[in-house]
Amino acid sequence: MTLTTSSYQVSPISEPAPGIRVPPVTDWRSLPAEQQPVWPDPALLEQVQDQLTLQPPLTAPADVRRLGSALAHAGAGRAFLLQAGDCAEPTGTAGVAAVRGKHRIISQMAEIISNHTDLPTVTVGRIAGQHAKPRSVAQETVGDRTLPVYRGDLVNDAAPHPEARVPDPRRMLTAYRTARAVINELHLIAHETVSGLLPHTWEEDAVHAAVPTRPYDGTLRSVIRNYGRTVKVNGSWRRTGLWTSHEALVLDYEQTLVRRDPHTGEHYLLSTHLPWIGDRTRRLDGAHVAFLTQIANPVACKVGPGITPEDLTELCGRLDPHRRPGRLTLISRFGAGLIRERLPVLSRAVRAAGHDVLWVCDPMHGNTFKASNGVKTRRMSDIHAEITAFFEVMTDAGHWPGGIHLEIAGDHVTECLGAGGPAAEEGLTRAYRTLCDPRLNDTQALLTIRKVAELIARG
Ligand code: PEP
Ligand code: CO
Repeated sequence: MTLTTSSYQVSPISEPAPGIRVPPVTDWRSLPAEQQPVWPDPALLEQVQDQLTLQPPLTAPADVRRLGSALAHAGAGRAFLLQAGDCAEPTGTAGVAAVRGKHRIISQMAEIISNHTDLPTVTVGRIAGQHAKPRSVAQETVGDRTLPVYRGDLVNDAAPHPEARVPDPRRMLTAYRTARAVINELHLIAHETVSGLLPHTWEEDAVHAAVPTRPYDGTLRSVIRNYGRTVKVNGSWRRTGLWTSHEALVLDYEQTLVRRDPHTGEHYLLSTHLPWIGDRTRRLDGAHVAFLTQIANPVACKVGPGITPEDLTELCGRLDPHRRPGRLTLISRFGAGLIRERLPVLSRAVRAAGHDVLWVCDPMHGNTFKASNGVKTRRMSDIHAEITAFFEVMTDAGHWPGGIHLEIAGDHVTECLGAGGPAAEEGLTRAYRTLCDPRLNDTQALLTIRKVAELIARG
């Protein structure tokens, strides 16, 4: 049975190669789960979960497989992954209102990469579900008050009051509804892109109908078939749509959106297309890793300075036991100061263990520091230095540097320092709006992507 109409072929789920040990499936519910909210009212949690379980899923298994296939192409050097969006998306109308700005800038970035390198760009948003945050401390001080930390709109409210910070499971329903509205908005935008290529009036349509070969036919088919990547139209690369991704952090939420695909019998996490686990929740004996082993989506994992080659190999063995191209994306986030020392040995270990992973550079999360006024920021010079190092390390090791993972606002914020943003820390407060980590503004995002495009083209 053909499961996709995409030009990408879906790899069949193969038996593991002889000698490859497939770890036994462990029930993730029995394992320690880091960074989970403590809901004060367990009965209310159960009610919300019952409601969520009855909701329609947000993505479809066939689309999830299509993305997996696109990622396999990116892993093999035939495409480049651009994954970008908010650190923490707001829920409610603010979340929906921000979609067009983010979609516009991600599309522009994708077109720059493709036009510069002549490679398709697979575009994935940190979008439609990026509502929960892992935190390094449980409490924070705001003014003269010590408060429980904000854990994302899915869990509590960012307002600096003790009541606002109490986890409320009903927020999971709001997060679900926001994600659904955001996906709807993304579909509308994709539809507008496609209809922009179609005749607009009856008269125009009649003219096209009179011409024996209608040039837009092939273009339209190609745009639809290649959703979520750039596609070449009349010699230049054009955007199509955006896949969704988020950190699968709050398992009380994510578990309600796991559904069995009746066509294949596999279980999919249908809260998103591409879930990832963060650097704080990737422990080998933890619930998050076990949870992801039980779903058939392509999955990603952040890899930071705290991991050893042995642990990373073990992690890959669990997340990608069948060594299936497209299944596993590793997101490197070491910081400009550590990447050259740590990444080479880790990438060698992964390859030696037989995993065909897609390596992606997150130059944001290893380069965060506190400015003197207490807000988090990042320097463009560090971000660019980590990107350059990533490309050099990967190229030297004979790996394809297959993608970039960025936090961007889709707006003119002043959250990161330098090149296109404030030159000095005093300028940060002008438009500092993030709910969590500092994001690139549009100028900074475009400067960064030009650098990436040059590095890819340089090869
Ligand atoms: C994030 O992507 O916002 C994040 C928290 O990343 P990491 O797990 O790499 O710290
Ligand atoms: Co972040």
